[in-house]
Amino acid sequence: MTVIRTRVAIVGAGPAGLLLSHLLADAGIESVIVDSRTREQIETTIRAGILEQGTVDLLVASGASTRVLTDGNRHDGIELRFAGEGHRIDFPSLTGRSVWLYPQHEVLKDLVATRLAAGQDLRFGVRVDAVDDAASDRPRVIGVDADGQRVEIEAEFVVGADGSRSVVRQTLGGSAAGSFREYPFAWFGILCEAPPSSEELIYSNSDAGFALISQRSSTVQRMYFQCDPEADPDALSEAQIWDELQARVPGTTLHEGPIFQRDVLRFRSFVAGELRRGRVALIGDAAHTVPPTGAKGMNLAVADVVLLDIALRALLLSGDEGPIDAFAETAARRIWKAQHFSWWMTSMLHRTPDASDFDRRRQLGELRSIIDSDAGRTYLAEAYTGWPFETRLG
Ligand code: DHB
Repeated sequence: MTVIRTRVAIVGAGPAGLLLSHLLADAGIESVIVDSRTREQIETTIRAGILEQGTVDLLVASGASTRVLTDGNRHDGIELRFAGEGHRIDFPSLTGRSVWLYPQHEVLKDLVATRLAAGQDLRFGVRVDAVDDAASDRPRVIGVDADGQRVEIEAEFVVGADGSRSVVRQTLGGSAAGSFREYPFAWFGILCEAPPSSEELIYSNSDAGFALISQRSSTVQRMYFQCDPEADPDALSEAQIWDELQARVPGTTLHEGPIFQRDVLRFRSFVAGELRRGRVALIGDAAHTVPPTGAKGMNLAVADVVLLDIALRALLLSGDEGPIDAFAETAARRIWKAQHFSWWMTSMLHRTPDASDFDRRRQLGELRSIIDSDAGRTYLAEAYTGWPFETRLG
């Protein structure tokens, strides 16, 4: 059996776990990260592509990724399309902020490279089975490494950054404990080789259902359309996929091209019942899941990291427990704002299978209330570009 001793044991080498180790290292706090996946799996999983202003500022200022500025693209607005017309929401004039289109797996490549270059103890292929002694001040992570050897990590604090199927969450009142809702639709997502069909992202509410026209680069595009959660991603031909997408953005002719990746993304809103117990805390998807509309998932994970970094510095450098005691409540405020925003964008833009004529017209009235009002557009822009991060805790 391998026994590792460290200050902070981080389960999960996604954006939350890696960024936390990076910020802690800057304060001289050593950590060990384990993940059940391989480095290749982590770096190639396709996720969302929008980074909030604050996320970008933090990645750049902390030295975690500067590539976002050279390889990413700043977006100063989005288009909301409904009833056959497009309406631009201009972020800088409403909030002084923007967002960046830079895919999550690129953020991950940068973070993994930065951490490994700094000598981070980062172990792939380690399956975590349990967290023991979670109530003590020496919690232990128990797992099995890539060679089948038992591994034990003894730490002063354990962080569950292990995604929506978090094992660490099971030590905090059970893996399912929390608040959640399901949705009667999902997204059919594609990556294709084609030039962009629009300068900015289009979020379209149409009679045929929702579509999102996003981008990856000048030659690769990401697009989604609302589908049944049970849909089989391989059941449609490329021509059928283009027909579905095209029908949902009337007024725009999409640039079509070979589709080289397709997936069905199920929706769920979830917040864990406990975000921290004793010396164990949850961050990122382990703590909460949002539906993808509005791209809050990774940005919310980064906001958790900012708070936990403040709390762990206070706890581990000065023995001050005030900030960690305030962590869950403070994190929950932003989490529930983001839950609301993600639910709201989703419900305002999608067609619910059993929607009545009233429901449909009310939804269009809601969209019109947003675009016709400075306050409405400003709320959307503030939430989309991201509320400022907390700088203090407790
Ligand atoms: C993307 C995903 C989203 O959920 C979103 O709101 C915007 C963009 C994307 O993958 O590009």
